Amino acid sequence: MSLAICPGSFDPLTLGHLDIISRAARMFDSVVVVVMFNSGKSPAFTVEERYAFIRKSVAGIPNVEVDTYEGLLADYCALRGADAVVRGLRVMSDFEYEFQMALTNNSLHPQTETIFLPANREYMFLSSSVVREIARFGRDISPFVPPEIALDIQARLCGKEKQHERG
Ligand code: COA
Repeated sequence: MSLAICPGSFDPLTLGHLDIISRAARMFDSVVVVVMFNSGKSPAFTVEERYAFIRKSVAGIPNVEVDTYEGLLADYCALRGADAVVRGLRVMSDFEYEFQMALTNNSLHPQTETIFLPANREYMFLSSSVVREIARFGRDISPFVPPEIALDIQARLCGKEKQHERG
């Protein structure tokens, strides 16, 4: 049974992430999407919220499971006995960071390979921060995130912005 890990901050999950997860699910027997901590980012959503968004969005893909983990990705891969980590690459500027991460993970746990999938050209421009920015100002985010979670994201971020305005 082949197992792939799709790690990320998922703050929140976008259609770009879902595209990579769905393609990984066609390549491997099972896929674990794991919400992790990126020390360079302060997330807008709690781990529980991000986990719930992903659960809702992948409910229709039978071989995908969702998890959370606070430690190193390499340790999680060892724990799960993963064959591969799958990451999406959008533009050249993603490459340097992704390459460094892949080499580091490989030196910590060589049994798990990193596989890069080119991002779908429809989602090349997309990022979680763009989605958050649009939602905060009350504009429709449904072209960018799975339909099951669009309203929840909008309500949460737009409500927050209104609270700021009040006081
Ligand atoms: N299409 C469109 N956008 C995509 C995409 C795709 N296919 N794949 C990623 N993105 C976007 C995301 O929306 C996100 O946007 P943002 O920068 O505005 O937030 C960005 O690309 C990357 O975010 P994401 O993939 O969600 O997570 P990340 O890059 O923050 O994840 C971890 C990094 C969590 C995997 C990494 O920090 C990690 O492994 N942490 C654990 C600790 C560890 O092991 N550290 C050592 C690693 S060397």
